[in-house]
Amino acid sequence: MLMFRTPFFLLLLCGATQTLGIIIQSNPAINSEGTIQVDAQKTVSLKCEVDGDIPADEELVWLRNGAMVQLSDDNKKGHSSVCVTPVLTEDNDAIFTCHLQTNKSDKASVTLNVTYAPALSGTEEIKVELESPLVLECDMRANPPVSSMSWTLNGSKVDLLEGGFTVTNNGITSRLQVNSVNKHLHEATYKCTAVSPMFPESSQTFDVIVTEKTLNFPLMPIIAGVVVVCATALLAIVSRWRKIRQCFK
Ligand SMILES: *[C@@H]1O[C@H](CO)[C@@H](O)[C@H](O)[C@H]1NC(C)=O
Ligand SMILES: *[C@@H]1O[C@H](CO)[C@@H](O)[C@H](O)[C@H]1NC(C)=O
Ligand SMILES: *[C@@H]1O[C@H](CO)[C@@H](O)[C@H](O)[C@H]1NC(C)=O
Repeated sequence: MLMFRTPFFLLLLCGATQTLGIIIQSNPAINSEGTIQVDAQKTVSLKCEVDGDIPADEELVWLRNGAMVQLSDDNKKGHSSVCVTPVLTEDNDAIFTCHLQTNKSDKASVTLNVTYAPALSGTEEIKVELESPLVLECDMRANPPVSSMSWTLNGSKVDLLEGGFTVTNNGITSRLQVNSVNKHLHEATYKCTAVSPMFPESSQTFDVIVTEKTLNFPLMPIIAGVVVVCATALLAIVSRWRKIRQCFK
């Protein structure tokens, strides 16, 4: 259980989450929209208290997105503390609710707003065969969302028309794609760069090397062919066996 030194202004800020007798206090503080803003990997401490007419020994319950949080017996009566550490990106938008064990209608909630930078870094070497497709992907998830995502080839903006590239993004990944790779046009160093309204620019590099075509033996058709031949031979024996057995009747 955590000890809290709660400055007066924090109590004022917490007013937004108070319904009747249940109050949530938090470090970092709860803002006027009832959310707690925190960077990923940091810690959030939450304390729930009963106030007013409610008997001080009433047991409290904590929920995270509606699922009960396990509490030790000495962390339930009159007040209860939970600690989210480290805060993960999956905790973004998580709702923490506290209520009395005996009466769910008296409750308080807070929402976490977990800020995190796009996870782009490093250099990856990619070998792709001549005339094969090339797909490069960058994870663009971040909170607040990235304001732009761009692709460069050998340091200049990718020329979509000249290289036959398509760039798509679905809000989760940004994808640069070519259907049939050509050494002259496509062997290069590619970089995706995310611009964030909050964090410094971040980028990921791909060194793409175009290799000669290797001959791919059509392994699957051969196996299928062998299976068919065996099955046919077996069927022949089986049907023949029937005939042979008939002779013994
Ligand atoms: C639960 O709490 C609400 C609000 O304080 C109150 O109006 C209601 O009577 C309580 N219900 C029970 C069963 O105690
Ligand atoms: C979360 O925090 C970010 C960064 O301050 C802000 O841009 C965004 O509007 C906040 N989101 C919510 C839902 O409060
Ligand atoms: C990119 O630069 C490398 C090294 O200078 C060069 O070999 C390659 O041909 C360039 N790629 C393109 C598509 O211009």
